[in-house]
Amino acid sequence: MSFSIRWKVTLGTLLAVMLGLVVAGGLAFRSIEQLELARAEEALAARTGLAALALQPLLAPSPPPSDRLQIQARELGIQANARVTVIDRDGLVLADSALSDDALPTLANHRMRPEVASALATGRGTDIRQSDTTGQRLFYLAMRVAPPGAHAISIVRLAMPLTTLESRIRDLQQALGIAFGVAFAVSILLSFFIARGLTKPLSEIAVVARQLAGGSFERRIPAASNDEVGVLATTLNQMADQLDHDITALRRLETVRKDFVANVSHELRTPLTSIKGYVEALLDGAKDHPEEATRFLQIILKQSDRLNLILEDLLQLSQIESGRVQFRQEPVGLRNVVERTLASVKPLAEKKRHTLSVAIPPDLPPVSGDEDRLVQVLTNLLDNAVKYTPEGGAIHVTARPVREDETIELTVSDTGFGIPAADRPRVFERFYRVDKARSREMGGTGLGLAIVKHIVEGHGGQVWVEGNDPIGSRFIIRVPAPKDPRGAVQPSRDTTA
Ligand SMILES: Nc1ncnc2c1ncn2[C@@H]1O[C@H](COP(=O)(O)OP(=O)(O)O)[C@@H](O)[C@H]1O
Ligand SMILES: [Mg+2]
Repeated sequence: MSFSIRWKVTLGTLLAVMLGLVVAGGLAFRSIEQLELARAEEALAARTGLAALALQPLLAPSPPPSDRLQIQARELGIQANARVTVIDRDGLVLADSALSDDALPTLANHRMRPEVASALATGRGTDIRQSDTTGQRLFYLAMRVAPPGAHAISIVRLAMPLTTLESRIRDLQQALGIAFGVAFAVSILLSFFIARGLTKPLSEIAVVARQLAGGSFERRIPAASNDEVGVLATTLNQMADQLDHDITALRRLETVRKDFVANVSHELRTPLTSIKGYVEALLDGAKDHPEEATRFLQIILKQSDRLNLILEDLLQLSQIESGRVQFRQEPVGLRNVVERTLASVKPLAEKKRHTLSVAIPPDLPPVSGDEDRLVQVLTNLLDNAVKYTPEGGAIHVTARPVREDETIELTVSDTGFGIPAADRPRVFERFYRVDKARSREMGGTGLGLAIVKHIVEGHGGQVWVEGNDPIGSRFIIRVPAPKDPRGAVQPSRDTTA
């Protein structure tokens, strides 16, 4: 393909140059001829004028002395290096330097010769033709002579052969031809190189484009000019970059997906293996010992609950991730969310003798979002706080507006085991647990914080974890407050109602 475009450009340029040269050459050839002829005519006219002047005295008497005219014509012919003819006004040839005296009367009447006719009419005439008399191609120039005192006018005509003039013109045209030939040869070279310069980046582009189409995104086109080809190259490079990023992202997603499948299988296998083991033990005879059988069945029940929990969390996570669940965007009062959540966490917290405290300013503006989802977020956080804090701990929930970024901040802090700084960013990953055994013992699935992160980000918010002072963890959530002022009015109507 690159080959053909190069030849197309080369041949196209050559054709254009050739056409230009042919037209210019044709015009130049013609004008050289015309110029030379005009110059020849001027020279011949000057000589004819002089000859006429010299012949004038002999033309005054009537009739003119023909023998003296003939001698004078021959003399002038030699001097002027031309054929000299004298013709009377009726076309009768009186003298001719190219003829002998006795050949003169045999000459045809010259009145109708073009140069003579126009000289009679206008004073001067020219013509180029083959001479009847001498057989040469001649340039004729005739002039009217009116000698003072003569009663009739005469014509003096000079003729010179065109051979020298024509060979001069041929020489000039030959030189011109050579110049045009050289110009053409140069233009062949130039168009070849121009075509190469123009098509080389194009063939590089073609190579890279072919590789892109084939799925390899490493190669880039070297930065060239700023013209359209350069723009094309840059655009293609950008496209390759973009594809490369997209593909890299896709591959990463693919790895994440594979890891996820492996994790899920592993998580499901643990309770299933346990269930299978106890069922086998029951069949092997434990069923005959009522106490043992009850204990085993309780373990089986616990493991089944755990399976159920994992599946529920997975289902929720996949629903949120797939974007099938649309978060509502309503003004939500956080006080309400906290109250709803505390109700469900209280029993476990009381069992562990934790103190639960809440600090929310009464004039806290609402956040924009989905109340049920926000309840779920807080439930997961409080559930963790209760689980990962040893008995008799303190759990504290706060909310406050953050003016700088127009969000509402919600924090959940505890006095528990805390999370090592290195693990903090990772606890939001699916199945990531700081202490697997403890999490499992607490009935965790490792999906709670992943769900939290998804919901918060789905609300256009952020979530992160810090260390609590002096011990424990603090989870911080920031969710945008609605910009629409009507959104802020609604909950205050709630409180007044
Ligand atoms: N309040 C907390 N205190 C200490 N560790 C926590 C706390 N919340 C979460 N974690 C750590 O983060 C991990 C992930 O939490 P989560 O996603 O809710 O899963 P899990 O089902 O294990 O609770 C937990 O296993 C635990 O190691
Ligand atoms: Mg949890």
